[in-house]
Amino acid sequence: MSTKEKIEELRRRRKELFKCGGERAVEKQHKAGKFTTRERVGMLFDPGTFSEMFPFATHRSTNFGMDKKNLPADGVVTGVGMVTGRETFVASQDFTIAGGSVGEIHADKICQIMDQALKCGSPFVFINDSGGARIQEGIDSLAGYGRIFYRNVLLSGVVPQISIIAGPCAGGAAYSPALTDFIIMIKGTGKLFVTGPQVIKQVTGEDISSEDLGGVYAQMARSGVIHFIAENELDAINTCKRLLDFLPPNNTEPPPDYSGEELEISPDPALNKIIPDNPKEPYDMREVIARLVDNRDFLEIQDHFAPNVLIGFSRMNGRTIGLVANQPNVMAGALDINASDKVSRFVRFCNAFNISIVTLVDVPGFLPGIQQEYGGIIRHGAKMLFTYSAATVPKVSIILRKAYGGAYLAMCAKDLGCDRVAAWPTGQIAVMGAKGAVEILYRRDIKKSKNPEADRAKYLKEYEAQFYNPYAGAARNMIDDIIEPKDTRRYLSLALELLQNKRELRPAKKHGLIPL
Ligand code: HXC
Repeated sequence: MSTKEKIEELRRRRKELFKCGGERAVEKQHKAGKFTTRERVGMLFDPGTFSEMFPFATHRSTNFGMDKKNLPADGVVTGVGMVTGRETFVASQDFTIAGGSVGEIHADKICQIMDQALKCGSPFVFINDSGGARIQEGIDSLAGYGRIFYRNVLLSGVVPQISIIAGPCAGGAAYSPALTDFIIMIKGTGKLFVTGPQVIKQVTGEDISSEDLGGVYAQMARSGVIHFIAENELDAINTCKRLLDFLPPNNTEPPPDYSGEELEISPDPALNKIIPDNPKEPYDMREVIARLVDNRDFLEIQDHFAPNVLIGFSRMNGRTIGLVANQPNVMAGALDINASDKVSRFVRFCNAFNISIVTLVDVPGFLPGIQQEYGGIIRHGAKMLFTYSAATVPKVSIILRKAYGGAYLAMCAKDLGCDRVAAWPTGQIAVMGAKGAVEILYRRDIKKSKNPEADRAKYLKEYEAQFYNPYAGAARNMIDDIIEPKDTRRYLSLALELLQNKRELRPAKKHGLIPL
């Protein structure tokens, strides 16, 4: 073959790759409302920046007629490029080729890309569209998934890992995303389950549709497995880009810095009117957040899971912050099992990636209840105590209204190593609400009283006077300052700015033992 012919051959082979699993399979993929893997990669990377690695890899199994199968790129596109100007590694599975299933070589391609991401200190994005371990390759596929899981763990806390669920993802294709930091799932086409409806029917006799079992609602609101619901494929890619824009490339670098010369700290008088006079009346914490952060921009995470707490990324004067807040609109913002898990995981992520944490507190307590106790609220709630105490990034808390009991501590109190705590004049630190406290402290007195209602009211008033204000906490240095709500952005901006160089050394250990 002449050189010219060899070049022609290379061009022909490259062109073949773009046919994916063939015309019919691509048509089926498009009909299902899905893009092909190469179209997805094209949408993710800045134009002309993507370098594919291992495009000519293919399977070597001969089992079950595999020797007769042509699986271009072995069903996964891998490589590196720039996503909004930042180096990012990708693996994107091709459902048109053996259902995007993971065989030995397919897995090896992903592992090599993950190793590169680790060495280069750059994020790893995994677009999953796969039936899981490739059945024909048997234990080689299982081992392949094992190697991917192992690397998911090696990368964890070193570079951000983001999974997009862009098709029916079963078995290993569900577990690898579960080991990454954020899962974005596409409405309608994305499904996530360990075993599909048919297997469940066989084993347990239960009948369920794949949407009800592993669709976006099930895996967000019920299980809390996923973090973002995307309306369509483009929305998923854009969410991924937006998320990456808040994050540092790795754990040794700060997040992207858009700060200007001067702090934008003008007061917002509307905040002075946000807390209702009636302490039982709710308000929308999202509005408070929007008023505090840059450009009202809040990338909320898990918005349909444990909605009694809010978590997400924003910026304060151009720098990324992680926000944690009670949502008084839902269950009065009380902490339950799911809320504890949601917050704890997020706090750990922020701490691993040098992101300052701002906590907005309005919490009546941990949610009481038999189901909560049986479900292990003690163990789950302890995760919040653990993660906030363990976090060494700058931590700033604002007590807006209630800060009761263990939940006060769990929402990053001063005693858990919070660096700055301010309260609004409506703030209240107490062991519990007045009603509960009076029933415990004065039950006998009230029982014996000739005028129990009057006495109860008197005791309530006494308790409220003592604890329903921020001054008792301020008197004991649990609160650094009491500020007008309108000045909160100023307070946060200055605190975060002055904490930029915070250093906190802890005794060396292999790792702490978080109550999982
Ligand atoms: C090999 C597979 C495959 C797999 C799908 N295909 N899954 N090939 N191994 N695991 C192939 C199909 O044979 C078919 O090939 C093509 O992909 C498209 O699949 P369809 O079934 O036609 O598509 P659809 O109806 O959309 O259903 C998708 C699906 C279903 C829900 C993913 O295929 C399915 O249930 N697959 C098996 C899922 C599973 O149980 N995986 C677990 C593996 S064990 P043709 O040639 O006909 O187009 C595992 C363990 C890892 O992953 C370790 C965990 C800890």
